[in-house]
Amino acid sequence: MSDKTVAVFLGDDASPEVMAPTVALLESLSLPITFVYPSTEADSDGRSHNGFSDTAKRMVDQADATFFGSTSGASTQALFYLRWGKQTFANVRPCKWRPGYQSPMRNPESIDFTIVRENLEDLYLGLEGNLEDLAALNLYSRHARASLKDLGPGRYAIKAITDAGSERVIRFAFELARSRGQKQKVTLTSKYNMLAKADGHFRDIGFEVAKDYPDITFETFIVDDFLCRMITQPQALDVVVTPNLYGDILSDGSAGLMGGLGLAPSGCYGETYAYFESAHGTAPDIQGQNIINPTATILSAAMLMTYLGYSEAADQLEAAIDRVYAAGQTLPVDQGGSASTSQFFEAVQSLMD
Ligand code: IPM
Ligand code: MG
Repeated sequence: MSDKTVAVFLGDDASPEVMAPTVALLESLSLPITFVYPSTEADSDGRSHNGFSDTAKRMVDQADATFFGSTSGASTQALFYLRWGKQTFANVRPCKWRPGYQSPMRNPESIDFTIVRENLEDLYLGLEGNLEDLAALNLYSRHARASLKDLGPGRYAIKAITDAGSERVIRFAFELARSRGQKQKVTLTSKYNMLAKADGHFRDIGFEVAKDYPDITFETFIVDDFLCRMITQPQALDVVVTPNLYGDILSDGSAGLMGGLGLAPSGCYGETYAYFESAHGTAPDIQGQNIINPTATILSAAMLMTYLGYSEAADQLEAAIDRVYAAGQTLPVDQGGSASTSQFFEAVQSLMD
């Protein structure tokens, strides 16, 4: 198999404490992968805290994929480039309970679904501004029974649901449902009653795409109702597809179902590129304490291995996580154990050798 290159951002705060040992785990597998580390140092012109130099960008471009540690600022521009620059439109967030996870659910067994979050549009275009800038449009709100200009000063944010952006992520979800080979079901959720034009469009496109997948069950729920169902009947779900912001919120909720953000991996896929990171943030409150849970990062690395074609390595990583949790001897503190981050890595490594 040909050699691969992975660009690594170790991330900020507590993130390097899980990223660096995870790369070491991957290195121990002796695969033909080269890890390169784009710098997030300040540019020479002083544009500092979120610098992303041309050199760093080139390293990302030349790599087959990126392994990204959560950032609290230093690599925000890199993250934006990984999303919009590399057009990674499908954010895949698996929610799979494994024996040993401290789920708050009474019966977490067989929770195994994946959220596919549209990753590039919706309210994430950064199109915000002052309401008075929209005055010339003479907009009238039937709901508020008032002209926009009469609402007084304030701000707006644009939510865009495009034809192409919606279709490609919904198609991705159907393909994923097929390849998972489980319940063969796609659940689409958005606020299509209140936002009939925007979120309704997302749903309509869902029905169109569903015609190409007669073997896959397709259902839709309004997002508030969906959230209740996700909590009360998570076992009924297989693949969930949703616009960006709902996906952001729902996927933290699904992490909660498993037992917390420390367990939640994530991968963002485009046509020609992908990057992988845990769904959690940089955990600044526990930085330097050697207690951050590495599970989300290791499972994200497993998704990276699958993407690169090393599915055996991915299976090994997942099996090691399964065994550590099933044994219950070396659980991280957020999972009710007392193992340090390093001890958890040692336990995983010992199962990989
Ligand atoms: C996530 C994060 C990001 C998002 C933040 C850090 C911009 O919450 O990956 O879920 O909202 O997409
Ligand atoms: Mg989030």
